Order: sequence, then structure tokens, then C-alpha cells
Amino acid sequence: MKTIVVYQSSTGFTKKYAQWIAEELSCDLADHEAASKKISDYDVIIYGGGITAGRIAGLDKLKKNPHIYGKKLILFATGATDRNASKIINSIRDNNLSQQEQESIPFYYFESGINYENMGFFSKTLLKGMCKSLQKKKDRTDEETGMMNALMKSNDHSDKALIKPLITYVKGVSI
Ligand SMILES: Cc1cc2nc3c(=O)[nH]c(=O)nc-3n(C[C@H](O)[C@H](O)[C@H](O)COP(=O)(O)O)c2cc1C
Repeated sequence: MKTIVVYQSSTGFTKKYAQWIAEELSCDLADHEAASKKISDYDVIIYGGGITAGRIAGLDKLKKNPHIYGKKLILFATGATDRNASKIINSIRDNNLSQQEQESIPFYYFESGINYENMGFFSKTLLKGMCKSLQKKKDRTDEETGMMNALMKSNDHSDKALIKPLITYVKGVSI
């Protein structure tokens, strides 16, 4: 079974997780831009993107790629949300995958962090806006307060151990 890990990463977190996964599975690794056409050569595509305001980077583009049809797709997202914030993580999954897609596409969330140093001006501005609206929110849940604090300054909670369930799943896939 030919497997590739494809990632879209702006500040480096998703790339790091993608490299860890490719190392563990001894499989190919490619940036989304470079991989668009290559995808047709593979049976299993593991796709990862960072979360921006609830959306997984590059996923809409991947879904439109005709080369993904008939392939086994596995999705992972990296974000600043605490790994235990299950309500927020479930809403990220539901915002990005329809019910039907969730039946065939396993979804994994990997906590990463924030890297203001590697971030462009547009992302910094968007992030500041998100922090402000969370600060103003009156009925903020504990999970949202955690999220607000996580977005305010650079931090790195990425952890290689988080990829284990995905690795176990992929090793059991048969097509
Ligand atoms: C503009 C912006 C919006 C973000 N929105 C979210 C979000 O809604 N939820 C979340 O968990 N993380 C959010 N993050 C954090 C990123 O998802 C996190 O840093 C991710 O790992 C970035 O991936 P990358 O380094 O591969 O680009 C946001 C970051 C930026 C810059």
C-alpha cells in the first residue's frame, strides 16, 4: 500500500507533525502545493493542515482535487486549542467534514501552539481580532478562555506522542 503524508503549513507546526508521521510510517512526504498531481500514485493519503479560525488549511482545495477519488483519506489538523477541549475539537471536525465525510475519513487533532515569529502580517491581524472577540465575549466557556490564552503569545505544545493513534490506524488499513 503506497502512502503519502501531504501537509499545508504556514508557521511550521503541521510540517513538523507531518515529518514525524512520515518517519514513523517510512512513507513519502510532500508539501500540498508540490503534491497535487502526485497524489494519484498513492493508495493512502494522510492530509494535515493548520487551523485558521476553525478551518483546516488547504482542505477545501484537497476535496476539489479529482486525484483523491478512490483513495483512502486520513485527516489531521494542528491548532492552538488544548488537546482536551473536546467540544471545540468536535466543532472543528464538524465544520470541516460533513457527516457523510466523517463516516469514511478518520479525523485526528494534534495540539501545536502559536508561532508569532514565523507569522505573516495578515495572520497576526486576524489572530489579534480573534483574541479581542474572545476577550469581549460575556458567556465565554472555560474551553474558550483556554483558547483565548493559547492564542495570545507564542507557545509550543506539540508532542510526538499525539500521533500514536493515527499511526496505529494507518498500520491497520487494508485496501
Ligand atoms: C490567524 C490564525 C487563526 C488561528 N485560528 C485557530 C483556531 O481557530 N483554532 C485553533 O486551535 N488554532 C488556531 N490557530 C493556531 C494554528 O492553528 C496553529 O498555530 C497551527 O498549528 C498552525 O499550523 P502551521 O504552523 O502548520 O501553519 C490560528 C492561528 C492563526 C495564525
